[in-house]
Amino acid sequence: MKRLFLIIFLLLLLWVSSMDSCHARRGKHWRQRRAAWASQLTKKKGKSTNGGSRQSHHHGGGGGSPAAGKKKLPGTGYGTGSPAVFDVLDFGAKGDGATDDTKAFQAAWAAACKVEGSTVVVPSQFTFLVGPISFSGPYCQQNIAIQLDGTIIAPTNAKAWGSGLLQWLEFTKLKGIHIRGSGVIDGRGSVWWANDYPDQIQDPVSSELMSKMPSIKPTALRFYGSFDVVVTGITIQNSPQCHLKFDSCVGVQVYNMTVSSPGNSLNTDGIHLQNSRDVMIHSTDLGCGDDCISIQTGCTNVYVHDVNCGPGHGISIGGLGKDSTKACVSNITVRNVNMHNTMNGVRIKTWQGGSGSVQGVSFSNIQVSEVELPIVIDQFYCDKSTCKNQSSAVALSGIQYENIRGTYTVQPVHLACSDSIPCIDVSLTDIHLEPIQEHYHMYDTLCWQTFGELRTPTVPPIDCIQMGKPPNNKIQSDHDSC
Ligand SMILES: *[C@@H]1O[C@H](CO)[C@@H](O)[C@H](O)[C@H]1NC(C)=O
Ligand SMILES: *[C@@H]1O[C@H](CO)[C@@H](O)[C@H](O)[C@H]1NC(C)=O
Ligand SMILES: *[C@@H]1O[C@H](CO)[C@@H](O)[C@H](O)[C@H]1NC(C)=O
Repeated sequence: MKRLFLIIFLLLLLWVSSMDSCHARRGKHWRQRRAAWASQLTKKKGKSTNGGSRQSHHHGGGGGSPAAGKKKLPGTGYGTGSPAVFDVLDFGAKGDGATDDTKAFQAAWAAACKVEGSTVVVPSQFTFLVGPISFSGPYCQQNIAIQLDGTIIAPTNAKAWGSGLLQWLEFTKLKGIHIRGSGVIDGRGSVWWANDYPDQIQDPVSSELMSKMPSIKPTALRFYGSFDVVVTGITIQNSPQCHLKFDSCVGVQVYNMTVSSPGNSLNTDGIHLQNSRDVMIHSTDLGCGDDCISIQTGCTNVYVHDVNCGPGHGISIGGLGKDSTKACVSNITVRNVNMHNTMNGVRIKTWQGGSGSVQGVSFSNIQVSEVELPIVIDQFYCDKSTCKNQSSAVALSGIQYENIRGTYTVQPVHLACSDSIPCIDVSLTDIHLEPIQEHYHMYDTLCWQTFGELRTPTVPPIDCIQMGKPPNNKIQSDHDSC
C-alpha cells in the first residue's frame, strides 16, 4: 500500500516538472503575464490551459505596436482570448475636436489590419476631427472591431471634401468588421443642408461656408463588399446625406443604435441597403429627413424588427427601376415598428419603364401616429412634374400587410400598381387607420390594378382590391424574372 502511494507520488512529481519545462519554453513574455493569468484562473475556474496558450500567442502578435502591453485588454466576443488593441491616442490622435486626427486613425487602422481579431479603440471623453477616410480590406485580417466610445466629427470646411465625395467614413472588402460602443459619429451636416435652403440662413458659421460646400454630399458611414458586418450601440447624427449605408454586403447586423438628424434635412436617409443579403436591423431608433430605412435593388433576406421611425419618410422599398433598369428585391420582413410623424409608413415605389420584381414582402405590427400615408405602393414614382407613361414595370407580388394601426393625416391606403403588370397576391389583414383632422384635404383609399385578398374587415373599408388573380395576359413574362 505504502509503495503504491510512493509510486503515484513520484509519477505526479514527474508530471508536474514536465509541465513546468513545457511552460518555460513559452519564454519571458508569458511569465510576465502568468500572475494575471493565475488570478483569472481563480475567477474563471472552467477555463482550460489550452485557452491560456492561445491568449499568450495573441499578445505576441500585437507586441510590436505602441499600444500592446500598455493597456488593460478588454475582452472581445470572438472567443479567441484577448487580441491586440490599438488605441488611436497611441498613434498621435489629439481628440481635442480641432486638430485633424485623420492620420492617426489611418495609422491605427494600418496596425489593426495586420492582426486577426484586433480592436481599434476610440476612447470616450475625446472628440476626434477626422476627414474622409477609407478603412479597407482586401489584405486585412478578419474580425477587426472598432470600439467607438468617443465622438468622431466631420470637417466643415469645403477644402477637406475636394470636389465632392460619396462617403465620409468607409469600410470596404472586409471579413468580419464590428463597430460597437456608446460613441457618436457626427457628420455636422448643417453646413451642407444650408445649400438646400439658401434663403434660410441658420447660423453665421454655416451661412459663411454654405456656398463653398460641394454639391455631392457624403454618406456618413458606408460598408462596401464586406461579410459579417455589425454596427451596434453607437449614434450616427447629422449626416450631410445618408447616415449608414450597406452596399454589396452579406451578413449585416444593426441593432441597439440611433440615427438622428432633423426632419427637414434633405436626403438624409437613416439606413440604406443595396445589393445586400442576410440583413437584420432591430432595436434601433431612426429619426432623419428622408427614409428611415431604404431597401434598394439586389436586396434579399432582410429582417427589420422593433424599430422606431420618425421624423422621416418611413420604411421604403425603392425607388426601383429608374432609367429602365432591372430591379430584384425579395424576402423582406418588417415587423414591430412605431412610426411617428412620418411622411409614409411602409412604402414600395417603382419607376415606370423598369423590369425585374419585388417578391415576398411582409409588413406587420406597424403602429402609426400622425403619418401622412401609412400604406403605399406607387408604381408611378416620378421626381419630376411628369414622367412618360411606359408599359414595362417592376412586377410586384406577394405583399402582405398585417396589423397596421393608428392615425393618418392624408390618405390611409394608396395602392397604385402598373397598368400592364398589376400587383398580385396583395393581402391585407387587421388594418385599422383613423384620420386626424387637419386643415388640408383628406383622400379616400385608392387601389389601382391591385389583386389579392382582404383577410379581415378593415377600417376604413378597403373595397377596391380586386379579389383573386388578374387575367392571364397581364401576368409578367419570364424574361423579366430575377
Ligand atoms: C446598447 O448600447 C448602449 C450604448 O449606446 C449600451 O450602454 C447598452 O448596454 C446596449 N444595450 C444592449 C442591450 O446591448
Ligand atoms: C427569408 O429571410 C429570413 C431572414 O429575414 C431567413 O431566415 C429565411 O431563411 C429567408 N427565406 C428564404 C426562403 O430564403
Ligand atoms: C398615364 O397613365 C395614367 C394611368 O393609366 C393616366 O391616368 C395618365 O393620364 C397617363 N398619362 C399620360 C401622359 O398619358
